[in-house]
Parts: sequence; structure tokens; C-alpha cells
Amino acid sequence: MGRRLLVTGGAGFIGANFVLYWLKRHPEDRVVVLDALTYAGNRASLAAAEGDPRFRFVKGDIRDAEAVEALLRAERIDTLVHFAAESHVDRSIHGPDAFIDTNVHGTHALLKAARAVWLAGDGRPHRFHHVSTDEVYGSLGPSDPPFTEGTPYAPNSPYAASKAASDHLVRAYHRTYGLQVTTSNCSNNYGPFQFPEKLIPLALIRILEGREIPVYGDGRQVRDWLYVEDHCRGIEGVLDAGRVGETYNIGGRNEIRNLDLVRALCRLLDARMAADPELRRRFPACPAARGGSAASLIRFVADRPGHDRRYAIDAGKIERELGFVPRQSFDSGIRRTVDWYLANERWWRAVMDGSYRNWLATQYGTDS
Ligand code: NAD
Ligand code: TYD
Repeated sequence: MGRRLLVTGGAGFIGANFVLYWLKRHPEDRVVVLDALTYAGNRASLAAAEGDPRFRFVKGDIRDAEAVEALLRAERIDTLVHFAAESHVDRSIHGPDAFIDTNVHGTHALLKAARAVWLAGDGRPHRFHHVSTDEVYGSLGPSDPPFTEGTPYAPNSPYAASKAASDHLVRAYHRTYGLQVTTSNCSNNYGPFQFPEKLIPLALIRILEGREIPVYGDGRQVRDWLYVEDHCRGIEGVLDAGRVGETYNIGGRNEIRNLDLVRALCRLLDARMAADPELRRRFPACPAARGGSAASLIRFVADRPGHDRRYAIDAGKIERELGFVPRQSFDSGIRRTVDWYLANERWWRAVMDGSYRNWLATQYGTDS
């Protein structure tokens, strides 16, 4: 008999990738998505799962512990994979409340529901997997060793602090009540279905539309990039063989400076446009469609307050214990990502609706 998963935030970037990955890889399993469809959630990202009898979408809020409890019972869920969150650092700087509400109170509501259902009476086999971020560890200096699972928490943004708080609650529900939890802390993801407020899709779409690419500060901040499907594979490994109560760092050993990343994207798009007249026709405002270079769009803008300088993950534990190996290099992953955004213009045009535009306008002016 297969597992019965509840995936919170399954209409978001990583959640949707995870649902599609899981349905493909686990034909026996049922996958129920619980998602509030905030600005970041898109049912369209789950189109490939719609109609599959093993899949169900439920629109609902993780903060509603009673509804979650009823869903866990009705669907006889044994595995909860918790992605739902407010996830964008810049938004957390402008409006931290939603981050505390969803990431802290929402995670706690899920934990309460899971405890009520899974630990009542003699209890029953279950797993609560919490998806977290490397940002809880704070910022590294240029020659500091990468984050391990033992690195002390030092979150710097309201987003990172809210995720850190949720990690602690998950740990406490294991230590205090015996809830069967695992946690993974992953580095920056990229790939299909990422909302175009995050650096890679934002820069990519701006290049296609010939709009300025904002690079914060000096652009020398370092992020450790992992292709989203490799993150999903890492979570799968933890669900299959991870030790209960343990935390696993997931990363790609791909440290790249923001400016180098943006320049690489520019070169990639220049080459794609030069080779393909159809692309030049579709995106006439792209500099390369007019014989120019996308790098001309790069603009240094004011730095993000409290901007973490460097993240880097030591993935040694998940590699040793669970045999985790990322399949995509940055080079192959970014090509796949560019291909996906070029082939799915309808998806990104649809998600770049009013709320996104209004928010960007307050950040960068009406050009957004
Ligand atoms: P996302 O913002 O793309 O998606 C979040 C999803 O959660 C959306 O579908 C949204 O509708 C849903 N959601 C938000 N509030 C909700 C609520 N109250 N109830 C139910 N659903 C709600 O986020 P993402 O980038 O896919 O990140 C998913 C998870 O992975 C987050 O927990 C994030 O902290 C973590 N993470 C992200 C990255 C990254 O690079 N994106 C890296 C490491 C960890
Ligand atoms: P982001 O994608 O927001 O992820 P995170 O803040 O979680 O790492 O940003 C990645 C890096 O890119 C981060 O150092 C901030 C920087 N950045 C820019 O320089 N310009 C932008 O427009 C954005 C969105 C991010």
C-alpha cells in the first residue's frame, strides 16, 4: 500500500515541482495539496496533475488547525510535507507580519493538528517533514566554512527569523511530544514555476522584455544554487531513509556571486537570441534582438537592508547518510530553466498580474 501525502504549499514553486516529481516517481501514492493560493500560489503549476485520481487540490489555510485536522483524518494522511510559507526576503522587510502569521503560527497550527491526529491513543506511523532554508544560519564571511547542521542559528531577515522559529517548533514537538519529524534546510533553488520576484526568473524575464535588471549593492553577494528537482530528490531521500528527529542540509556546492550569475544569464540569452530568429520575433525588446547585449540592462541599485553576504551549504551529512547527489550542474540546470521559461511564456505572463506589478512598482518605480 502506498503512502498518503499532504503537501502544504503545493501550488508554490518548490511544492508544485515536488508534487509533479512525486506523482511520477511513486505510482502507488496519493498526494493531497493544501494551499491558500496567495500571490505566490498558482494552480496552473499543477495542471499536469489535474485529473490524476491520485491527486487532490484543497484550497485552505495552514493556520486553520481544525480544518487541517479534519483533512488529515478524512484523507488518512500518513506523511505531511510542509512547504507552505511566505518565502521572499524583500517582502518580509516591507511587511513582516504575514511571515510571522504563516511561517510561525501556520507551522504551529499544522503541528497541533498532526499531534492531535497522529499521537492520539497508541499513535500511528507518520512523518512530519518540515522544509526550511539555509538562511536560518545567517551570513558567512568569504573564507568561513559552509553551514553544517550544527551551525548556530543567526537569522538576519524577518523571513529567516520566522523560518528559524518554525524549525524550533518542529524540533520541540519531536522532543516534547514524540512527533516523528524531519527537517531539511536547503540553499537557493531555481527552475520551472518560480515566481518572477526571485532573482533568476526576474532577471530572465527582464532580459526578454528589455527592462533593467536591478542588482543589489555591489552584486558580490554569494548564493549556493540548487536545481529544484534536486531539492525534491533530497526531500525524497529524507522521507525514505532519513532518521526521525534529524535535520539534513541540502545544497548543490554551487556558490556563485549574484553579478556573475546575472552576467551568465545575459550571455546565455544573447546566444539563444542570436541563434533563433523566432525568439527575436517573440521578444523584440530584448537587446540581443536588436544586435545588443543583455548585460547593458544591468543596474546597481540600493542594497537590501541586512543583506546576507554569503550562504554556502555543507551537504556532507545527506550525501553520506542518504547517498544524495545533485543531478544538475549549474550549467545544465540554468539551461533547463531558460528553456522552460521560453516555452512557458503563458505561465509567467499569467502570474505577473496586478499584485505582483503593484508591489514591484513600489520597489522600482512604474517601469515594473
Ligand atoms: P513560494 O512562495 O513559491 O510558495 C509558497 C506556497 O505556500 C504558495 O503556493 C502559497 O500559496 C502557499 N501558502 C502561503 N501561505 C499559506 C497559508 N497560510 N496556507 C496555505 N498555503 C499557503 O515558496 P517556495 O519558494 O516554493 O518555497 C517553499 C518552501 O521552501 C518554503 O517553506 C521556503 O521557506 C522553503 N525554501 C525555499 C527556498 C527557495 O530558494 N525558494 C530555499 C530553501 C527553502
Ligand atoms: P532572492 O532570489 O530574493 O533569494 P534570497 O534573498 O532568498 O537569497 O535573491 C537572491 C540574491 O539576489 C540575493 O543576494 C538578493 C539578490 N537580488 C538582486 O540583486 N536583485 C534582485 O532584483 C533580487 C530579487 C535579488
